[in-house]
Amino acid sequence: MPDSEIHSLPVISGAELAERRRRFMQQIGGDSIAILPAAVERVRNRDVHYPFRQNSDFLYLTGFNEPDAIAVFAPGREAGEFLLFCRDRDPAREIWDGLRAGPDGAREYFGADEAAPVAEFEAALPNLLAGRERLHYELGAYPKLDKSVLGALNGLRDQGRRGVAAPHAILAPDTALHEMRVVKSAQELAMMRAAARTSAAAHCRAMRVARPGMMEYRVAAEIHHEFERDGMTPAYPSIVGGGANGCILHYIENRSPLADGDMLLIDAGAEYQGYAADITRSFPVNGRFSGVQREVYEIVLAAQRAAIDAVRAGSDYNAPHRAAVAELSQGLIDLGCLKGEVDGVIEREAYRAYYMHGTGHWLGLDVHDVGDYQQAGEWRELQPGMTLTIEPGLYFPAGTEGMDARLADIGIRIEDDIAVTDGAPQVMTAEVPKTVDAIETLMAQGRE
Ligand code: GLY
Ligand code: MN
Ligand code: MN
Repeated sequence: MPDSEIHSLPVISGAELAERRRRFMQQIGGDSIAILPAAVERVRNRDVHYPFRQNSDFLYLTGFNEPDAIAVFAPGREAGEFLLFCRDRDPAREIWDGLRAGPDGAREYFGADEAAPVAEFEAALPNLLAGRERLHYELGAYPKLDKSVLGALNGLRDQGRRGVAAPHAILAPDTALHEMRVVKSAQELAMMRAAARTSAAAHCRAMRVARPGMMEYRVAAEIHHEFERDGMTPAYPSIVGGGANGCILHYIENRSPLADGDMLLIDAGAEYQGYAADITRSFPVNGRFSGVQREVYEIVLAAQRAAIDAVRAGSDYNAPHRAAVAELSQGLIDLGCLKGEVDGVIEREAYRAYYMHGTGHWLGLDVHDVGDYQQAGEWRELQPGMTLTIEPGLYFPAGTEGMDARLADIGIRIEDDIAVTDGAPQVMTAEVPKTVDAIETLMAQGRE
């Protein structure tokens, strides 16, 4: 992305965050209260922490990107419905760890109605809980906080004789929230397109630079270079697997040399403002598909196209998977890997020997995003604003019983990020080539 565009990358507005909170509180109802803690910083080794990543639910409702914070949502509370307990300002600590918003900043920049140092949370809790019927809180996920919450509940119960009511139900806060997160707003789609665009550029770069003899991690470095120059980070550990490694679904070591004649499978996506992209491309290390590589590739591509075409508002979540499985099953019969009629192969799930994962997942603030896939035992209906991946593949690890040796160690997956619209599915990651010709052309450019 050129410098000039970096400065105009979109961000989620304060108005949208406020609207999300309003909807969330409307959904939990006036007799409820929700407590949502921020993610906890994790130690990597000694004084070194893992890079901090905010809890996605917390980020969705607050936009606040610091650890040691607790958001409280108390619909109808006269003194303010959105409370943010956060780290206090501390000039000495800020010299080491960077600036903190502090309670004043939480009010001024993050729209909190009330804010206080997180150390005051425990004392404030009984008053916040009193009179509420339901508490939305993920019990068991934050052991230290559990103690405060249960302590406050017990204290209130003891006061029951004096007419102070304590919540009588503790619910997971995520039901309402995760339903909201499944359907993306226009601003969210803009974030996802930004992540998609940079991720697409990264995959194109990998196609241009990959060569026989290169280490997989050097290809990963080229991908991460593109992410970082746009201010982004990987949304998940990148998979860069040549040959047999491309048949290992979660291969993240990326430490083997690429061999002439092998395929290379790359599954990598950037995260922007918390929103993930998730792209896979598979291409020949030397820039030219062999006959059999092309044969398999065309089957996976046809499956991916059919699945993308099935991403339509009003059809069900599993329609793309059915479309992909039909194409892959026929392809496996044509390759001589499976015997019988296509209907029987699908019925027996015989294709699972070579296609053992699903065709996609929701995509958003989490790469495997939240939200139900089924409702009342049925696949749910797709609706505009939903975002999902479509990622069929075929994998032929050497040694697979009964497999033609010419297929050995071919692993191919093609993954794009799709937004459901009122009409045709929108492929947010269309900027990375995926036809055989387009891939070979781009790879040749890198070799001129
Ligand atoms: N990159 C993770 C996935 O494709 O599901
Ligand atoms: Mn995926
Ligand atoms: Mn992926």
